Amino acid sequence: MNPFVYGTVVKEPNFFDRKDELKRIVNTLAGGNNLVLYAPRRYGKTSLVIKAMESLTTLGFVCIYFDFMSVYSRESFIEVFTKAILSKQSNIDSALEAVAKFVKSIKPKLSFDQNGLPEFSIDFIEHKISDKTMDAVIDLPEKLSGEKKKYIIIMDEFQDIDKLNGENFEKLLRSKIQHHANVNYIFLGSRTHLLSDMFTNKSRAFYNSAFAINLTALPIKDTIKFLIDRFSLSNIGLDEETASYLVERAGGIPYYIQFLASEVWQYIINQKQIVDKEVINACSNKIIDLKSDYYLELFDRQTAYQKKLLKALALSETNVFSADYAKKYRLSAQSTTQKALTGLINSGVIEKNGNDYSFDDPFFKQFILRFMA
Ligand SMILES: Nc1ncnc2c1ncn2[C@@H]1O[C@H](COP(=O)(O)OP(=O)(O)OP(=O)(O)O)[C@@H](O)[C@H]1O
Ligand SMILES: [Mg+2]
Repeated sequence: MNPFVYGTVVKEPNFFDRKDELKRIVNTLAGGNNLVLYAPRRYGKTSLVIKAMESLTTLGFVCIYFDFMSVYSRESFIEVFTKAILSKQSNIDSALEAVAKFVKSIKPKLSFDQNGLPEFSIDFIEHKISDKTMDAVIDLPEKLSGEKKKYIIIMDEFQDIDKLNGENFEKLLRSKIQHHANVNYIFLGSRTHLLSDMFTNKSRAFYNSAFAINLTALPIKDTIKFLIDRFSLSNIGLDEETASYLVERAGGIPYYIQFLASEVWQYIINQKQIVDKEVINACSNKIIDLKSDYYLELFDRQTAYQKKLLKALALSETNVFSADYAKKYRLSAQSTTQKALTGLINSGVIEKNGNDYSFDDPFFKQFILRFMA
């Protein structure tokens, strides 16, 4: 079986490293503080937090995972949030009663699916969800918890809170949860610039309301060891230099490292038994070919100036605003470049890291270099 996993939450043995980050997450939350975790897309945020939750559950916390991605209205917020809470209750009957008591305008119900697993549904009594109902739902975890049973709530893709009536809901949520004595929150999300604005901009409701962790890429040395060990399980040879080349082609991003490694494993398992650069190049090109329709469409969607800028960024991601850069890539005024770049960042094509920029998807960059530059 292919020893590389990508696209889902990974657990051991597919998960490695992050020991310091794990400790910090567990200690911060167990110590009664809130936390925000920043990292670009596909760096391993969800996997890391789920792993931390395992430790926190062992310590006696009730950990509830909630994903804003599936929320698009007040109703869906109530449904997803309430169901996430109910799924973690040991005494379901009394929890259903408690929810109905605390939130007068909803009726949670329990049924069982074909496999006999519990399934919750929510009946709404109000035609239009009132602020009072929203207040009560947000307060539910505090009401159900207590001195003896503390809750930790993970709010994944938290920047998607925007979908709920913009900053009003953000204010409402903040005003409520700041009074929660027995519940701590960890916020995470993959749109770093949006999330960071929520927590560092003085005019936003969540300003300064949580400790912050900036998740970086996995350390190169440990990544190389992981790759060599995993390939050796199938008796496939990989030396350090080639492993390092694989990491580089995958842009150093955990998801793409496992994606490319998985393709390499697939390619090599029936052929030669040693991975070399040639194999890695062939597999990278295969990934680009597989995704080329999507990449072409993504490229076509950009304005003419953004296309020009993307080609420049594919060649060099540093000193983008210098005079030399503009001259070399025949760019217009700084303000024009800034506007185009903001568009690319907002649509998730480009990530901003300090003063440097990088492609969200390293294979899109390679696609541009191969076919567009
Ligand atoms: N610690 C790790 N060890 C090994 N692989 C990892 C690790 N963290 C992440 N990965 C790889 O990255 C992939 C994405 O992980 P995960 O979904 O946790 O990231 P994410 O940052 O939450 O992504 P998204 O931005 O899509 O929400 C995993 O499927 C796995 O291939
Ligand atoms: Mg995630």
